[in-house]
Amino acid sequence: MLSDNDRIFTNLYGIESPGLRAAKRRGAWDGTKKFMQNGEDWIINQVKESGLRGRGGAGFPTGLKWSFMPKKSDGRPSYLVVNADESEPGTCKDRDILRHDPHLLVEGCLIAAFAMRAPVCYVYVRGEFIREREALQKAVDEAYDAGLIGKNNKHGWDFDLYVHHGAGAYICGEETAMLESLEGKKGQPRLKPPFPANVGLYGAPTTVNNVESIAVVPTILRRGANWFSALGRPNNTGTKLFCISGHVNTPCNVEEEMGIPFRDLIEKHAGGVRGGWNNLMAVIPGGSSVPCLPADTCKDMPMDFDTLRDLKSGLGTAAVIVMDKSTDIVRAIARLAYFYKHESCGQCTPCREGTGWMWRVLDRMARGEAEKREIDMLLDVSYQIEGHTICALGDAAAWPVQGLIRHFRHEIERRIDEYAANPKPDEAMVAAE
Ligand SMILES: Cc1cc2nc3c(=O)[nH]c(=O)nc-3n(C[C@H](O)[C@H](O)[C@H](O)COP(=O)(O)O)c2cc1C
Ligand code: SF4
Repeated sequence: MLSDNDRIFTNLYGIESPGLRAAKRRGAWDGTKKFMQNGEDWIINQVKESGLRGRGGAGFPTGLKWSFMPKKSDGRPSYLVVNADESEPGTCKDRDILRHDPHLLVEGCLIAAFAMRAPVCYVYVRGEFIREREALQKAVDEAYDAGLIGKNNKHGWDFDLYVHHGAGAYICGEETAMLESLEGKKGQPRLKPPFPANVGLYGAPTTVNNVESIAVVPTILRRGANWFSALGRPNNTGTKLFCISGHVNTPCNVEEEMGIPFRDLIEKHAGGVRGGWNNLMAVIPGGSSVPCLPADTCKDMPMDFDTLRDLKSGLGTAAVIVMDKSTDIVRAIARLAYFYKHESCGQCTPCREGTGWMWRVLDRMARGEAEKREIDMLLDVSYQIEGHTICALGDAAAWPVQGLIRHFRHEIERRIDEYAANPKPDEAMVAAE
């Protein structure tokens, strides 16, 4: 279990003020100038050595990503874009950073942008996050007023930070859709390559990072890459914000050590599973887009990127959705399928048509109104969507369906049998009366 000493987000629950004075008392903006004087490459190397992997879902190594940015400008500026769109169902961690610890993010933006030689940063905040946007803007204003960022600031490197308010679409969280949206266009993902590090915002080199990925960087530099990399295990290092929701006694957000066993996470922070561990049915361990895992697989699993990938699921955004035995698992996954159908931007045929098709089939399956051969057909369609689209929304829609069939095929079949035995339950009841 993570000791209080090792917490990065010491005001996660908003017990203290998010303002500059209180943030400084908690350690923010301490030593920032010194880190910058060590140079761009030193910062990138520290982030690489820390083992930090992106906290936005894919877990791409952050330092490596930063090193793709040009060291010398060809005349175009470079940009940092921070992804505060946080729309993955179950995920609500960046929101608490914006509300309660925004100075860690503002400081992280300055340091990350400096390391990538990007004099401008945009933070793209989810449309529905009104109070969060206000809290972040307040912190940005404070940082400007105190000469921490802006022209001729105390750190000796001119830097501007703009807070951009999104209009509320899940797809704008995909990094290239976000760039389109920032440019004032419809938020639709771009084909890659070219990757944003070559052609990003306004056609210039750009890096997009998640809020948590950026906000942990100042503390990594203050405490040292070795401190961060000593937490967790190799390739899965550091602390992580987990969002625990669903059928637990006390749902919460909590910062824990990467790799904490699932059972410890739930027992120590979420008051245990509702009705006890024998009442656990399944878990979605990393936000709605990762496949669910059945109870017997997940009780003692370490919550990290590699373990969950090996179990054919994923850490994703670390949004842990716990489902007890009262859950209608087929209907729950059908509901997620509806979400992806609704959020598909419509550019690619497999995603546009396939998400709606999967939802309609799952909706019937939830009632048992299907044939058993359709289960394999559904699986096959999910594989035809996965990997065949412009962006990963197609994968995100396919994976929950695959997880359901992998682990709960028997439940779908049971419903189909039940319905076949009694196809019109209402009429049967009337007849019986
Ligand atoms: C449909 C879709 C939605 C996404 N939504 C978010 C989001 O809300 N926040 C986020 O940080 N990343 C989101 N991502 C991932 C981003 O594209 C990108 O990988 C991430 O912001 C990179 O940051 P990181 O390297 O710090 O993790 C989404 C990806 C897809 C395909
Ligand atoms: S996969 Fe879906 S959301 Fe992504 S670009 Fe294609 S249609 Fe749009």
